Amino acid sequence: MENALHARDRAGVQDFVLLEDYRNEESFIGNLRKRFKENHIYTYIGSVLVSVNPYKDLGIYKKEFVEHYRNVNFYELPPHVFAIADTAYRLMREECCDQCILISGESGAGKTEASKKILHYLAAASYHAKQVEHVKDKLLKSNPVLEAFGNAKTNRNDNSSRFGKYMDIEFSFLGAPLGGHILNYLLEKSRVVHQNPGERNFHIFYQLVMGADDELLQKLFLRREPELYYYMNQGGSTRVNGIDDAAQFQVVKSALTVIDFTEEEEEALFTTVASVLHLGNVGFTENNGQAIIAQEKSVSSVCKLLGCPEDMLKDALTHRTIEARGDSVVSPLNRDQAIYARDALSKAVYERQFKWLVKKLNDSLENKDESGRKTLMGLLDIYGFEIFKNNSFEQFCINYCNEKLQQLFIQLTLKSEQEEYKREGIEWETIEYFNNKIICDLIEEQHKGVISVLDEECLRPGDATDLTFLDKLETTVGSHPHFLSHKLADNKTKKTLSREEFRLKHYAGDVTYKVEGFLDKNNDLLYRDLKRTMTKTSNLITKSTFPEDELTSKKRPDTAATQFKKSLSQLMQILMSKEPWYIRCIKPNDNKQSAVFDDTIVGHQVKYLGLMENLRVRRAGFAYRRPYEVFLKRYKCLCPGTWPNYQGSAKDGVEKLVNHLGYRPDDYRMGKTKLFIRLPRTLFKTEDDFQHKKHDLATIIQAKFRCYSQKKKFLQMKTAATLIACYWRRYSAKKLLEKRRWAVKVIRSFIRGFITRNEAENEDNKRFVQCVKAEYLRRLAHKLPKNILDKSWPHAPGSCLKASDLLHDMHKKWLVRKYCKSISAERKAQLDQKVVAHDLFKNKKQSYPKSIARPFVENRLTSEQNSLKSSAFDKTTKPEDEKTLYCTQVTKFDRHGYKARGRILVLTTKAIYLLDDKDCKLKHRLNYQNLMGLSVSGLTDGILVLRICKELKKDKCLGKNIKHLDEEERAESTCLAFHDKPDLQFAPEEERSTF
Ligand SMILES: Nc1ncnc2c1ncn2[C@@H]1O[C@H](COP(=O)(O)OP(=O)(O)O)[C@@H](O)[C@H]1O
Ligand SMILES: [Mg+2]
Repeated sequence: MENALHARDRAGVQDFVLLEDYRNEESFIGNLRKRFKENHIYTYIGSVLVSVNPYKDLGIYKKEFVEHYRNVNFYELPPHVFAIADTAYRLMREECCDQCILISGESGAGKTEASKKILHYLAAASYHAKQVEHVKDKLLKSNPVLEAFGNAKTNRNDNSSRFGKYMDIEFSFLGAPLGGHILNYLLEKSRVVHQNPGERNFHIFYQLVMGADDELLQKLFLRREPELYYYMNQGGSTRVNGIDDAAQFQVVKSALTVIDFTEEEEEALFTTVASVLHLGNVGFTENNGQAIIAQEKSVSSVCKLLGCPEDMLKDALTHRTIEARGDSVVSPLNRDQAIYARDALSKAVYERQFKWLVKKLNDSLENKDESGRKTLMGLLDIYGFEIFKNNSFEQFCINYCNEKLQQLFIQLTLKSEQEEYKREGIEWETIEYFNNKIICDLIEEQHKGVISVLDEECLRPGDATDLTFLDKLETTVGSHPHFLSHKLADNKTKKTLSREEFRLKHYAGDVTYKVEGFLDKNNDLLYRDLKRTMTKTSNLITKSTFPEDELTSKKRPDTAATQFKKSLSQLMQILMSKEPWYIRCIKPNDNKQSAVFDDTIVGHQVKYLGLMENLRVRRAGFAYRRPYEVFLKRYKCLCPGTWPNYQGSAKDGVEKLVNHLGYRPDDYRMGKTKLFIRLPRTLFKTEDDFQHKKHDLATIIQAKFRCYSQKKKFLQMKTAATLIACYWRRYSAKKLLEKRRWAVKVIRSFIRGFITRNEAENEDNKRFVQCVKAEYLRRLAHKLPKNILDKSWPHAPGSCLKASDLLHDMHKKWLVRKYCKSISAERKAQLDQKVVAHDLFKNKKQSYPKSIARPFVENRLTSEQNSLKSSAFDKTTKPEDEKTLYCTQVTKFDRHGYKARGRILVLTTKAIYLLDDKDCKLKHRLNYQNLMGLSVSGLTDGILVLRICKELKKDKCLGKNIKHLDEEERAESTCLAFHDKPDLQFAPEEERSTF
């Protein structure tokens, strides 16, 4: 309930005790209306459930709802019939005390539906085991059978129960249903013989006629036309939309099998029903004040069906035997009396058959196992207060019953209230409420009550009539404040009462009863002759329900009212011994319409059901009470001292909390285990504060939860990481170990290989030697000489010496080859010259080694000399077909006196030219044919001697020229330029010295 406290403005309060203006009927109805419009058909008054018939399927009884309400605290969920059923069931099981659920309300208010829902809930929510499923099935199947025989279509309800029903379900200590027992009250038997317009007889008549197969119908002498039977056609509505009698008949038949009916019993049952129908068609005419049977065929059908002598029945229907002082006189009946007798017989047969049926059901439902601890759950589905335009004996009984139930309610509620106060150590405060005991006494008190007076009148010899009964009432209870009749009323009230009426001021309102028929109905007379005839029947049911000893018994049977009073007091005993739960049913309108809420009609019911009275009793003390733990748990967030957790006792916590909330001393009381709050507004204020606070709390909870879940996730991940790391470390350590072992092996074998490296190849050193070789090759690859002049070569281990030599040689060759390939043609030509020079000069001229590294050039002139030579010699003097091969600066020594003269030596392809070094004028030209030889010294100098033939010696300019080349190397290069010409001669030692 707390969860929906804040929705109270829209959908009303879920518990009437929280209504601020609880004495006001309008606000009560207003709350019901608000809730009804929102499809909330249930509301509590404390633990009493008020239910408004929705006349439509709200889908709130499905399996999910059963699960939803199962094992949940009563106040935690919105009001529901399942909540009542669940709480009662759990209390019964856990505390081992019997429970009962009392359902009351007007016809059509939803009592029977509620009781069915409870039964279904108990079946669904209780212990499941194969052996109890059959019991559950029987309990559930007893309903359609009882409804077929005890329910009828009325103007208020198409399936109106025309009897009161109390059902006990027996449970084992495990909560498994073991069996059941049904008590029935006041079957409306007058319906068998009379139906008001628009209404019908009990369903079974229609079901039989419409649903039985042809064979059965024939056997029962019936036709498939309900209109043919007087007991079925008076209301003029034999067929009703929405009721499928034929289908229902099959349901009943299959249910009968489940509840252990034999074929014989089933046949007897339908035969009895058929015989009542035939009885109804027995018409009478009258002759001289004597009734004569008009429909003999119907009588004979009855006799055939029930198995009794036809004459006997005919006599009994038209005559009456009166016994007085040992004599018996047979007197004929007039038509009215005969009809009365016939109807009385029909009613008696049907009523006794109903009782037999209930007994049979009880036999089938009975739990024969006596062992083990058992508890009971009672279900009372009984008519609520009835106030019609004309109220008769039946309404009197029904209203009396409701007075008794109200009395029980008051006693139990007040008792429990008082006990709770006592338990909680709270001072008892006088509660203002109306105690209806005074009305119960008015009706039932021995010798002084209405029932006693009625019985007296029924038993009294002489001419007792309904009016004499009224007289007697006036004299006996006339002074009672709750009794009124025309004679006793003041003038104003007189107008509202006729002389045949009396009025009782019931707790739920004033009801005016017509005395007509009171005596007859109370006497419930069935002529002896008819009873006797019934004892002679062979039908299984009538035979057992009309025992022979009833005829011989001298004891007068109890009157109907006394029987009812006794059964009620028995019922009260039963209910008193149990913990009661109440369901008060209300119908929202008289037209079976959904979504129509008629304030007047609901208002009446609220009054008749005594709901305001209920509420007043409930609210007399405190509107709200909850165990400290529950209150603290919900509202602790409203006080810093109790939030988030209070360390002390819950009671201290609540005290701190209410002080903080500013409750005034009169607003609440602290019991031993519960807090009592007097007014709803105090609670609402607290609840409103809570609703506001809830958002803050939600944020905190959210944050905490997020933190918690992240932390959890983190820890999970951390554990996982540690685990993985652990496994990885183990794996890698193992790998390392393997590697090291392998390494040790390798190293050991290497050492062994090293030690034996110089031995012939064997297993031990084979690998080592291979490695040494490989390693040598690798090292060698990096340290190979890069050029041809590099003479180094890496050291080779012993095993590779041979290879080393081979490789060295190969490498050298390769370098040479590479070098040769890389040199240009020009350089090659030079080198060729160097080779020639080598042949010429090696070991012959001292300066030769110094010149080796320097390359030969073709021109050694300065740039000025060159340009001068170009203009003065090349372009003018030198023949074009000659190509200059070499030119250099020389010093020419004269043959005589060795005078030094500066000259430029030019060698062409054909001749030698000597030019003046100043102007490059030609001084000499010498063809190579004329050159006899060249001479150089073996010393370190640059002297070159050109030898010419004798003829040319005359030429001053030629002859034996001695030229001094400035550098020794020039001499060589010049000689080289001449090389393919005359032979080079080295001057003999003596000549050399003359230079
Ligand atoms: N809770 C409910 N939900 C839907 N319809 C209901 C409910 N209670 C009663 N009814 C409707 O009202 C009709 C009369 O209900 P019923 O229980 O037979 O009334 P009562 O036993 O009080 O005379 C039912 O046949 C059904 O159509
Ligand atoms: Mg009913």
